[in-house]
Amino acid sequence: MKTLNYININENSANAVVNSLNQLLADFQVHYTNLRGIHWHIQGRGFFILHEKFESLYDGMAAKIDEVAERILMLGGVPENRFSEYLKVAKLPEATGITCGDGAVKHVLDSYKYLIALEKEALKVAEEAHDVVTADMLTGYIAEQEKMVWMLVAFSTHNCNK
Ligand SMILES: [Fe+2]
Repeated sequence: MKTLNYININENSANAVVNSLNQLLADFQVHYTNLRGIHWHIQGRGFFILHEKFESLYDGMAAKIDEVAERILMLGGVPENRFSEYLKVAKLPEATGITCGDGAVKHVLDSYKYLIALEKEALKVAEEAHDVVTADMLTGYIAEQEKMVWMLVAFSTHNCNK
């Protein structure tokens, strides 16, 4: 028995979506680990705000990782679970040595820039496959991350001395 036989998506289209989602899964895993690292290593005046913010961001990323992996399974694919394989595929760099608030926010904004572009590419593939569920999932991620970009830009650029 196959899920694909019941959800009205053909196998070739499903495979294309699975490939996009496997790329996203690898980058999400690296992003998740980066967020945890920043949560641990952050120092300075922004500590209490950023330590908590990064916790909520990595919790949100953990939920998305599970959702993406399970969507891959629904589409007849196999989600990768080995970190050694994620590192071969992921394009996001591993974060190291980030201890200051400005550097942390810059790192996360750069990561979102890449992830939002990747999700928009995956969205195109899902739409071509008439895979409305994956498209809806990705649209939700893009909406959430674009809002977070706005908030992080506001957080990092406001100058109270003006
Ligand atoms: Fe913690």
